[in-house]
This record gives sequence, structure tokens and C-alpha cells, in this order.
Amino acid sequence: MKNLILIYSGGLDTSVCIPLLREEYGYDQLITVTVDMGQPRADIQQAEEKARALGTEHYTVDARREFAADYVFAAIRANGDYEGYPLSTAIGRPLIATCAARVAERLGVTAFAHGSTGKGNDQFRIEFTLRALVPEPTIIAPMRERNLTRREEVEYALAKGVPVAATAEKIWSIDENLWGRSIEGGRLEEPDYSPPEEIFQWTLPPDRCPDRPREVTVGFQNGVPVSLDGEPLEPLPLIQAAHRIAGENGVGRIDIIEDRMLGLKVRENYECPAAVLLLTAHRALEALVLTRDELAFKRLVDQKWGELAYAGLWLDPLKQALEAFIARTQERVEGEVRLRLYRGSCQVIGRHSGWALYSEALSSFDDKTFDQRETTGAVKTHGLQAQMLQALRARR
Ligand code: ARG
Repeated sequence: MKNLILIYSGGLDTSVCIPLLREEYGYDQLITVTVDMGQPRADIQQAEEKARALGTEHYTVDARREFAADYVFAAIRANGDYEGYPLSTAIGRPLIATCAARVAERLGVTAFAHGSTGKGNDQFRIEFTLRALVPEPTIIAPMRERNLTRREEVEYALAKGVPVAATAEKIWSIDENLWGRSIEGGRLEEPDYSPPEEIFQWTLPPDRCPDRPREVTVGFQNGVPVSLDGEPLEPLPLIQAAHRIAGENGVGRIDIIEDRMLGLKVRENYECPAAVLLLTAHRALEALVLTRDELAFKRLVDQKWGELAYAGLWLDPLKQALEAFIARTQERVEGEVRLRLYRGSCQVIGRHSGWALYSEALSSFDDKTFDQRETTGAVKTHGLQAQMLQALRARR
């Protein structure tokens, strides 16, 4: 008996893995693990039904609360971004692999398979996490090892009786979790192809949004959101409510050219309404309470954090050290931010905090607390060395 845990989404790639693992790798005891990260209920059910039809021992793990509190909230504190999109798939993969490793430990299994291809980032993220958590695991990536094209996969699936959802209309490759949704494949791979409206599920187009702006207030404590419009909420329901409010107002569509880990440039479309709303609010509050030096240095830390998270190095010691710095700064990220959402735009219209480094008396044009005459000397020596160089040049 050879047993193995297949990390299973129920999609084409991972479904094709089932007969492949049995027939070409000789695993007769297949265990499928589907992790609920907030993707549609129907996708989870479909995975469960396919697993039953294909005769695997199946487990569904609900990781939504853990994902919201420990992964998404860590990303908010770090303003988690990669090349202009809020990290979502990247922060989900480590938790999916962690859940698979937990099931494996319970069942005493040390072999794993996943459906990632050899071109993407997910293979790095999943395999790193498994290797970090499981002593000497066997890891199989049938899609990568067999170098299959999508067309070959469909043919193989049909030949082996794997249920294939009408492939003609299923041209998009979609990945979803609570924090974001990516749509790839088909003509969307072309950098110059306008995304058709049908690819969007979470956000309304501007012309179908409400005709009045929606104002929303996000309350923060310790660098993470804790309330919406004054109502205290736990991480998961807060993200879900933010998702609804922003999506209804068309906020969160992002179309970028992204540099994958292997250096491939790819065109990516994302929908991430909750992320755009909550990250915009978080940045606005940091701007009010952190010093200029803290903000400048944190930008570097956040950038590095984003690179490590993109690479799936969730358990990297450098990431943990950066988080120690971030945690110290977030102690003062407390207060409320008001935003106006309107037909796709998300604008900050106000913020306040007990830690605001803002003084009306000092900044106001109508106040004499700050005696302007004291600034004269500082202005005179501003750019002193550049002034001197200009004078030297003038003499040559
Ligand atoms: N390019 C994004 C990333 O690497 C999205 C990847 C989506 N993954 C997928 N298997 N469809 O984070």
C-alpha cells in the first residue's frame, strides 16, 4: 500500500493528478485535502463530489478564520503588496500546505502531490512550506513532471473518466481566497487584450454601481481593522463585510504586468475589493501616526516583506524579524479612517487617532505658536553644499 496526500482544489489540474498518481506513480491510496480559504461554497462542494466520484479518501479543512486572523491581518500590517497588487494567492499557499501537513501528521503520511505547473509561483510556495514542516517528505508535481499542456490534460481527463466542466466556456484559470481573486488564461494572457466584463465576479463595473457615493469608516487597533462603521467585527466577518461594500461600489479591479519568480512577465487581472479598501485605510492611518523616518524605513521593510511573501517564504527568519519591527510600529496604528467609495474609486476623506503626530497649533496658517522667524537660519543653510558647488562651478 502506497499512500499520498493530494492538495486538491477540484479544478482540472488537480483532478487530472488523481489517475496520473495511480497509474503512473503507483499510489493506490489517495487522500485528497481541500482547504477552504473563502473560495465559493460551490467550488468546495464540487471538489468533494469529484473526490467521491474518483474514489479518494477526502478531507475538507475550514481555514478561513486562521487565514483571516493570521495571514491577511499580517499582510495588512505590512501593507502587503507585490508590484502594485495586494498579495492574496501568495499568502494563501503557505496555509494550504500547512493544513495538508497537519492532516499528513495525523494520518502518518509523508508523501504529497500538488497540481502546480512548472511555470508558476505556487510550486515554490507549496513545496517550501511542506519541506519546512515535514521531515523528508516525498513531493510529486505531476503537471510539472509530465510537462502537459492544457489540451493534453483535457484529453487525458476525458480518457480516464475525470469529470471535466464544459471546457469551451471554462477558458479562464481562476484562483480565489478571501483576500483576492486572480483571473488568467485564454486571451487574457495577451498584454493588450481588454478584459471582458464576464471575468469579474466580485466588483461591479462603474456604470452599474449605485449613483451615490458610499462613505465607510474603518476602525483600527494595533495595526489591524477592528470595526466597520463603528460596529466591532472579528477578522473574518470584517473582511467579508469590507468585500461586499467595496465590491458593490466597483472598488478593487487591478490589471498589471507581473514579474513571476522565474522571471516570466505575465499579464494578471485581479479583483480584491476588501484588500483595496482596508489597505488604503491602513496606509492613511500610518501616515498620521508614524514619524517621517518610521514611514520611510517601513516602506523598505514592507517592500522586502512583500517579496518574501510573494515567494511563499512565510516561515523565513528574515520575514519574522521584519515582523518584529512592524509589530513595534503598529502599536500606535490606532484610530479611524473615513473613506468615500464611488464607481470604482476609493478615496480617504478623513482620519483621526489619539497618536496623531499632527498639531493644529503648529501647522495652521492662523496660529502663532510656531514663530516663523525662527526658521530663517534653517532656510539659509538649506542645501548648503549644493550652494557651495554652484559657486565653485561659476568661478571656473
Ligand atoms: N500571479 C499570482 C501570484 O502568483 C496569481 C497566481 C494564481 N495562481 C493560480 N494557480 N491560478 O500570486
